[in-house]
Amino acid sequence: MENFVINGGHELFGEVNISGAKNAAVAIIPAAILADDVVRIENIPQISDVQLIIEILDRMGAKIKLINKDTIEIDTSCIRYQSVPYELTSHFRASYYLIGAMLGRFKKAEVAMPGGCNFGVRPIDQHIKGFEMLGADVDVVNGMVCTKAEKLVGTSIYMDVVSVGATMNVMLAAVLARGLTVIENAAKEPHIVDLANFLNSMGADVRGAGTDVIKIRGVEKMHGCTYSIIPDQIEAGTYMVAAAACGGDVLVKNVIPKHLESISAKLEEAGAEIIEYDDAVRVTRFKPLTKCNVKTMPHPGFPTDMQPQMAVLLAIAKGTSILSESVWDNRFQYVGQLSRMGANIQVDGKVAVIEGVEHLTGVKVKATDLRAGAAMIIAGMVAEGTTTVENIHYVDRGYEDVVAKFGSLGADIQRVEAEEAVSAQSAG
Ligand code: EPU
Repeated sequence: MENFVINGGHELFGEVNISGAKNAAVAIIPAAILADDVVRIENIPQISDVQLIIEILDRMGAKIKLINKDTIEIDTSCIRYQSVPYELTSHFRASYYLIGAMLGRFKKAEVAMPGGCNFGVRPIDQHIKGFEMLGADVDVVNGMVCTKAEKLVGTSIYMDVVSVGATMNVMLAAVLARGLTVIENAAKEPHIVDLANFLNSMGADVRGAGTDVIKIRGVEKMHGCTYSIIPDQIEAGTYMVAAAACGGDVLVKNVIPKHLESISAKLEEAGAEIIEYDDAVRVTRFKPLTKCNVKTMPHPGFPTDMQPQMAVLLAIAKGTSILSESVWDNRFQYVGQLSRMGANIQVDGKVAVIEGVEHLTGVKVKATDLRAGAAMIIAGMVAEGTTTVENIHYVDRGYEDVVAKFGSLGADIQRVEAEEAVSAQSAG
């Protein structure tokens, strides 16, 4: 087992390159099943969620060719229909995209209920509603989602909640359905647009992605393509918040600044300066941080996946900030860890009241989920002394080369075996 050991107190300077978007990649890779052909996907992030989805396609018989570090070719013409067991789906949420993709191509799917980060009940009722409205029968039997359809027929589907996963899954199932599917109250995240662009590159007819009404006209057949995944909004946001929290001057490269506006706005309010370039943002912060209120919202609001990282920054900002979570029921599990580092945070339901403190102090903390893990890294970098972060497999799910990237900015962070971490912590 490995931990991160971080010696805090260094400002960050330099440039960091952002990888492809996790939450786009984990939908786009299974979407290749729909092509029944060879698809080349570029800008794939090197993270464990992506490795898992590639492994599942490999086991299903797809031919996978690694072209270079971040480009693969997937030939899905040789894929065999089969059920996907829990051993393969338990570690990541996005395994549910296999349901939409297989239903679209084979008109049937059997996929174990997905795992993923635990922040409250994570129902998939809207996915199921969408598949049923397209004409599929769906049963959940012994933890497996089993669905099949004689044929899928386009229809109008109103999503009762704005759901990224349900919007993308229904898109996957609908591209090869007969006629027109209209998704109303659709999610608008950048990865929804990316999936639509990918599907269209494979011959689908998807319009309106990025708005709350997406129209999908079914096509007979799809085909191979070459496609490059968008940069990861949340990885970029994480480095931006880290730069603002630690202080310094960081150029965050290979990003789409438009996707980062809600994050930039809050960082500016808290005392950082942000300069936008065509495909980069520069974050500088040399004056003290001040409080600001943040409420997470579906895109284009402030992303829930940036909430824990922002909490760290607010924990050391002068004044009292209110941080409200409006997407997930229970996304403050990491607060106990931050409190052990000296943060003053009171949580009441979906609201955290954060009283800024002078400094945090390094201790041993746990990553309670992926973004909480990123938050613990930032906390370790701003804290006095040595912080050990346990459960770092969560971080590996969504951040490529996090040690090398933060290290190149001047952070003192290492990945070490657990026993070495114990001695580093007691020495620090
Ligand atoms: N919801 C339902 N029914 C459904 C689906 C969702 O009630 O059928 C509710 C959820 O309980 C939640 C809200 O709708 O309260 C939003 O959930 P959504 O479906 O949008 O989330 P998701 O698709 O499961 C993706 C990301 C998450 C990110 C959310 C919100 C992936 C693989 N995961 O999850 O990312 O927090 O959208 O933006 O795309 C992460 O990357 O760390 C992460 C957790």
